[in-house]
Amino acid sequence: MTLRMELGDRSYDIVIQRGCLQKAGQLLDLHRKVCIITDEGVPAQYAKTLAAQCKDPVIVTVDAGEETKTMDTVTKICRVLLERGFSRKDCVAAVGGGMVGDLAGFAAAAFMRGIDFYNLPTTLLSQVDSSIGGKTGVNLDGVKNIVGAFHQPKGVLIDPDTLGTLSPRLYAEGMAEAVKMALTSDAALFEKLERGDLPVEQVLEGALTIKKAIVEQDERESGLRKLLNFGHTVGHGVESAARGSLYHGECVALGMVPMCGREVRARLIPLLERLGLPTACDLDKEAIWQAMQHDKKSSSSGFSAVFVEKPGQGFVKQVSFAEMKAILEGAWQA
Ligand SMILES: NC(=O)c1ccc[n+]([C@@H]2O[C@H](COP(=O)([O-])OP(=O)(O)OC[C@H]3O[C@@H](n4cnc5c(N)ncnc54)[C@H](O)[C@@H]3O)[C@@H](O)[C@H]2O)c1
Repeated sequence: MTLRMELGDRSYDIVIQRGCLQKAGQLLDLHRKVCIITDEGVPAQYAKTLAAQCKDPVIVTVDAGEETKTMDTVTKICRVLLERGFSRKDCVAAVGGGMVGDLAGFAAAAFMRGIDFYNLPTTLLSQVDSSIGGKTGVNLDGVKNIVGAFHQPKGVLIDPDTLGTLSPRLYAEGMAEAVKMALTSDAALFEKLERGDLPVEQVLEGALTIKKAIVEQDERESGLRKLLNFGHTVGHGVESAARGSLYHGECVALGMVPMCGREVRARLIPLLERLGLPTACDLDKEAIWQAMQHDKKSSSSGFSAVFVEKPGQGFVKQVSFAEMKAILEGAWQA
């Protein structure tokens, strides 16, 4: 199936189809220089399959892991583009998870003030969430995604076959973002996730349909799009404090738990447990709190945080530092 992100002259197709990586040459404009960014942990065959369909490809393989999502790596990618004589007519393509997508997208946004970017996500997290919507960026001094740009892809190819090589833990972290979409915006999808028999294509379609509708209404996150930050206020703090020991989606799972009303939490925790996601953590709360204060979602007056009291009805509320600290102090208690 194909969804279309309607954003005027920045509109694009999101193809969700088994085997579509092999058809990239028919679905994307690859008759030009294409810089394919991937990482060491992504099976190399995926980038090679794409390269085989490009007129003039170069593959850049960066180290796997969130530590690679830096300005230094963006500089390295831009240097390759410069040395290979890339022009504004050429493009960058990401083949990998959300880390590679955010990094490659930002390099494409920055090089020559913006060249075309294709996203071919290969983790469940990047397929259900990060590959669409145009948020690109890198981390700086331990602060997540603090340097970045809005740069919409020209096309997104989602091939669920690539999920076959994912570890169960990586699969589970992707489900956390799908739960996030459902809890904030679609009670029926949340119920289907609770039933536990939804084929992955339907998880993808459900989650991407929600995200697409939100991005179409609020591309630059002035209001509604903040809903997609559900679980991320505490989650980003946990991610910094965990120093690489927890995946992004696992941190989002932990971050959602304290932001729910009691009844929702009573349904969320068993769902997360069944999906293999953490629902409690014993990281130092002071370290989490320090990281949370540097987050983009905080300001001098407090946090713009997302809460869910009823499935499908997330809402954004301004909370003071004291209120947020109290939520963190009470988080994950039995
Ligand atoms: N831009 C957005 O809107 C947005 C939204 C959510 C998350 N993110 C970002 O996404 C990142 C997390 O993404 P992620 O969870 O995909 O992590 P990731 O990109 O680091 O990938 C996780 C691991 O999976 C490996 N991998 C990728 N594809 C594979 C495959 N098919 N088979 C086997 N291994 C594979 C990678 O090598 C890596 O080791 C974070 O940087 C987060 O900030 C961005």
